[in-house]
Amino acid sequence: MTRACDRVVKPFYAVEINRLAHELKRRGVDVIHMEVGQPSAGAPEAALQAAERAMRSDKLGYWESGALKERIARHYRESYRVEIEPERVILTPGASGALLLAFAVLLEAGDDVAMGRPGYPAYRNVLNALGMQPVELPCGAETRFQPTATMIEALDPAPAALIVASPANPTGTMLDRGELTALIDVCRRRSIALISDEIYHGISYGPAAVSALEIDSSSIVINSFSKYWCMTGWRLGWLIAPDELVGKMNSYAGNIFLTPSALSQHAALAAMDADEELSRHLETYGENRRVLMDALRRMGVTDLAPADGAFYVYANVEHLTDDSLGFCKQLLADTGVAFNTGLDFDPIEGGRTIRISFAVSRSETAEAVRRFSAWLEAR
Ligand SMILES: Cc1ncc(COP(=O)(O)O)c(C=O)c1O
Repeated sequence: MTRACDRVVKPFYAVEINRLAHELKRRGVDVIHMEVGQPSAGAPEAALQAAERAMRSDKLGYWESGALKERIARHYRESYRVEIEPERVILTPGASGALLLAFAVLLEAGDDVAMGRPGYPAYRNVLNALGMQPVELPCGAETRFQPTATMIEALDPAPAALIVASPANPTGTMLDRGELTALIDVCRRRSIALISDEIYHGISYGPAAVSALEIDSSSIVINSFSKYWCMTGWRLGWLIAPDELVGKMNSYAGNIFLTPSALSQHAALAAMDADEELSRHLETYGENRRVLMDALRRMGVTDLAPADGAFYVYANVEHLTDDSLGFCKQLLADTGVAFNTGLDFDPIEGGRTIRISFAVSRSETAEAVRRFSAWLEAR
C-alpha cells in the first residue's frame, strides 16, 4: 500500500523555467515570458473598478455571489443556448479547484481516468496525488492531438472518467461537435463520467468551441476567469454540476474551500460585461499566432499543432534537440526568451517538443521571433 507522502507528484517545468526567467530579469536581462499559460494583460478595467469599490464597501467575508452564478447561467444561455439553473454553478478557486472538486466527488482511489497525451499536466499529477490512475492515450496529429471515441471504446476495463479539453493545452486543438458528441455517446454507453475542461472557451481562431453542455446536460463542465477574462491570479473558476450532484458538490466545496475569494467574485461579475476590451486581446492573440507560426515555418520548425484556439504553439523540434528542457533553458540564458519544454505535457515524447505561449504583446512576439531566429542561426 503506497502512503500518500510516498507518491511522486511531478513539478511543473514551466514553473522552473519561469523562476529562472525571473532570476534573469532581476539581473537586468530583458526577458520575454512565453513559458507560462497566462495572458500578459491584466483583468479588464471594469473588474479593477469593481474590486476597488468592493474593498471599500464590503467586508469581503466568506461569501458566494448569487449574482455571479446568475450571470454565469446567462453566459450559457447567450453563448451556447443552454439553460442552466444558477444553483448548478459551483464557484471554485480557479479551474484547478473545480478539477479537484470533480475528482473528489466523482472518483474513488484506484479509479482509472482517461485523458489525451499531450495534455495539461495537473490532470495527471493531481490524480496521482489522490491515488487515482491517469490512463494517458497517445494522441498525434492524425487525431488533432485529441482522444477519439474509438480510443475510449477500446479501453478495457472502461475508465471511471474521461477528461477532455477543447481548445486543449498545449496544442490549442479543438473537438468539433461531431467528435465531442461521439465521445459523449461512448461515455454514456459505458458509464464513464465526462469532465469537459472548457477553460479556453472564448479564445478560438475559427469556429467557436462547443460546450459539452450543448450535447449532454449531465456533463461536468469546468471553466475559469483565468484565460479569456485575463484573471489568472484572482483564482476564480466554476464547475457546472448535473442536478443530482449539486448538493454533494456544494458540501465538498464548502469543506475544501469554504468559499472562493469574495473580492474576485465582485471583480469577475464586472469582467463578464467587458467583452469590448477583451476582444482587443483576441485580436492581438490572432495576430501573434499568425506571426509566430509563419516565422517558425521560415525557421524550419514546420511540424506545428494546428492551434484552433487557446494561445499556444506546440512545436516538434526533434530536428533540433531531444532534450527540449535543456534547449529551453539554453535559449533563455542566451536570449532572455522563455519557452516551455513539452515534457510538462508529454513525459514520453515531450523531450522533442516545445510549447510557446503567445498571450503576450505584438511587440514581444516580434522581438521573441527575432531573437529565437538569430539564436537558431548561430547554433
Ligand atoms: C487546460 C487547463 N485546465 C486548467 C487550468 C487551471 O487554470 P486555473 O486554475 O488558473 O483556472 C489550466 C491552466 O493553465 C489549463 O491550461
